[in-house]
Amino acid sequence: MSQANWEAYESDAHRALAEARAIADLEDARIIWLGRKSALALALREVRDRETGTLLNGIRNRLEAAVNEREHDLAAAELDRRLRDEVVDITLPGERLPLGSLHPITQVRRTVEDAFIGLGYEVRDDREVETVEYNFDKLAFLPTHSARSPRDTFFFDDTHVLRTETSPSQIHIMEEKEPPIYMVSIGRVYRRDAITATRYPIFHQFEGLAVDRGLTLADLKGTLLHVMRQLYGADRRVRFRTHYFPFTEPSIEPDVSCGLCGGAGCRTCKFSGWIEMGGAGMVDPRVFENVGVDPQEWSGFAFGMGLERTAQLRHDIPDIRALWEGDLRVLRQF
Ligand code: DAH
Repeated sequence: MSQANWEAYESDAHRALAEARAIADLEDARIIWLGRKSALALALREVRDRETGTLLNGIRNRLEAAVNEREHDLAAAELDRRLRDEVVDITLPGERLPLGSLHPITQVRRTVEDAFIGLGYEVRDDREVETVEYNFDKLAFLPTHSARSPRDTFFFDDTHVLRTETSPSQIHIMEEKEPPIYMVSIGRVYRRDAITATRYPIFHQFEGLAVDRGLTLADLKGTLLHVMRQLYGADRRVRFRTHYFPFTEPSIEPDVSCGLCGGAGCRTCKFSGWIEMGGAGMVDPRVFENVGVDPQEWSGFAFGMGLERTAQLRHDIPDIRALWEGDLRVLRQF
């Protein structure tokens, strides 16, 4: 081709590139005018003299630059178009995901935590697999206590059990730190009970322990009164009945006044006006000795109660199984 023909080639190519309306068109034009089989590429391969080489290389460089520039313009135009056309209105309401609700046990657990945090207690979460030493021995259970039997308790081997109560937390915290101690421990406990309307082999307890100078049953009563009112309402009353637990002396069982009948007597409180809440008492000096706390200097109170029972009373749930079956028809009500 003559020089004039190559000039025509170049201007035709520029026009074709300028006419490309999309990246794909541009690529087609590039292949025709600059590709390996284009007249330009074939001619470049045949070049013998310097003059022709300079001419053709110049054309190739200018066309390549034009391709790049056009590509850039098309990409920018495409972005502009998408920004204009594919507008997302972030102020429109999104699609709502169905939200569940907290399980009644979790709700009670949080109320208990809040009540005790408000009193300055620390919240603990201890292990569910315990040693016999922590579940029984250090809590001063007598060797003959019935809870030590594999009929009552899940044993892994001679020395490991699924904890039967949250009371081992008392031992753990007293071994970990010096008094004064104010703690509440919440979690699952296990007993070999058959499943019935009132018993389930897994359940939750909250366990409180206060160790300080000069604590008395009056402090225990005030603390429980405060927490029961947080859980059940401001007009509740608390009373103590004497009882026995291995790790407290004296031991008591606290009752809370029945909220359904206001104390007059009804089916829920078995016509007594009072509802049993769990166990409590003053820490037995033997327990203090087991963890190296001087019972002459320090005194303490402890209490343990079931979360299921609390949830049942709060929501009037007659059957404990409802709290473990995960039936949405039940759980959606809370
Ligand atoms: N651990 C007892 C139980 O599961 C409840 C209990 C009683 C806990 C007296 C205490 C306590 O801290 O002082 O039946």
